[in-house]
Amino acid sequence: MPDESKIPDFFNIPFDDDDRWMEYINAVRDYCFEGMIDVDFVAQESEVREWYHMPWMHWGPQGSEGFNGLAKEAQISPYQLTPEQKNPHQTYALGYYNEFAGYTLGQMWKDADNPDAYATQNPKGFPVGTVIYKLLYTDADETEVDYLVNPMTRKAYVTPTWNDGQDTGRVVKDMHLIQMDVMIRDPRADKYGTGWVFGTFCYNGKLNNGKTGSMRAQNLVPVGIQFGNDEQDTTNFINPYPPTETIVNPNLKETKINPNKEELPPQHLGWGGRLDGPVDLNNASCMSCHSTAEYPQAAALVPAEAFEGIKKPVKPGSKDSVLVKLTNTEAAAFKKYFTNIRCGTPYSEGTTSCDFSLQVSLALGYFTEWKNDNVEGYWYKEYERSPLEMHRKGELKASVDETLNK
Ligand code: HEC
Repeated sequence: MPDESKIPDFFNIPFDDDDRWMEYINAVRDYCFEGMIDVDFVAQESEVREWYHMPWMHWGPQGSEGFNGLAKEAQISPYQLTPEQKNPHQTYALGYYNEFAGYTLGQMWKDADNPDAYATQNPKGFPVGTVIYKLLYTDADETEVDYLVNPMTRKAYVTPTWNDGQDTGRVVKDMHLIQMDVMIRDPRADKYGTGWVFGTFCYNGKLNNGKTGSMRAQNLVPVGIQFGNDEQDTTNFINPYPPTETIVNPNLKETKINPNKEELPPQHLGWGGRLDGPVDLNNASCMSCHSTAEYPQAAALVPAEAFEGIKKPVKPGSKDSVLVKLTNTEAAAFKKYFTNIRCGTPYSEGTTSCDFSLQVSLALGYFTEWKNDNVEGYWYKEYERSPLEMHRKGELKASVDETLNK
């Protein structure tokens, strides 16, 4: 366990103060970049501090590729980013865990054949001082997304398009940095009932001003910060795709959004204006999705009700339609999704908490899948919990009851 002196200095900056949250989130960014820009974000070469990756992210059809370890992540719908973005795109990403987070991952995986799923559940869980960040890259470029001019580019071995599976094979493509996500286990967030602070940044290459290579990561502009789901606020709107301006909901107390329209490209954000990034869905939010992190992943990452609503064509006459307002927001599952839950608490009965880390949930799921395939009947009988496939768009393969009774 790292010494308390390793807790980053920004743990002294108030993240919930209207005038200071930007200072906090920019300090988080600097902490993540320090020593990493120099080594092109190759974590093991950093000389400033230790950063780690999640084990088992190489497994299965979405597994990480060989150039930079980017794992297949999410689809970007047509018009999700800009009015010019006619084609769907895909996102590949890589997560970095600081030494506090690394401690917990070490506890979970110290016996590599028998991970301890309880390492992320109360009374354990990621310790105070944990900082996790993720760089997200897309195959969209400046022809459709103006702010991807002067890109920060990585080669990656990816499926030609999102819908291609294993059998299509992969191709080498240039992928461009579009978003950075952070999550911080900050004890001052305990009073909001969560214990975590989420933040996100959007790339804006128009601010490049001569930067080259990995220095361009500094073109990431804060979108906002979120430390709770504002369960009291039922303002029911969705900023439809394509976003042409960032709509700020002034009633939110646990999300704060960057008001600087010169710096920040138009954002759709999440439901009711809660924080979500450019490649995330506009009917969810960082914290609501991450609060479902559990093993096995019984809860859908987005409840079905978040897709029930009024749609309109994305443009007059277009066959692509987009959600503009939800109609089932009083449903229990929807309300639960926007309730604050404390770190280390499972979302569904019969599961173990992954403490807001969806990569932990994936890693444990992938490991069990592998173990089931390789040790077959024996393991299957011995082990009471099988993984459920994770779905960003709501549908579930099996219920937790079915799985637990298997
Ligand atoms: C609809 C669900 C969903 C939403 C919304 C979402 N994420 Fe995630 N996030 C995931 C999944 C799934 C993973 C794990 C796989 C991966 O890395 O893509 C993940 C991974 C991460 C990680 C890597 C750490 C970890 O172990 O989970 C961070 C940090 C992160 N997200 C932050 C954010 C932030 C900040 C936002 C809002 C701007 C956000 N996420 C919105 C689903 C979501």
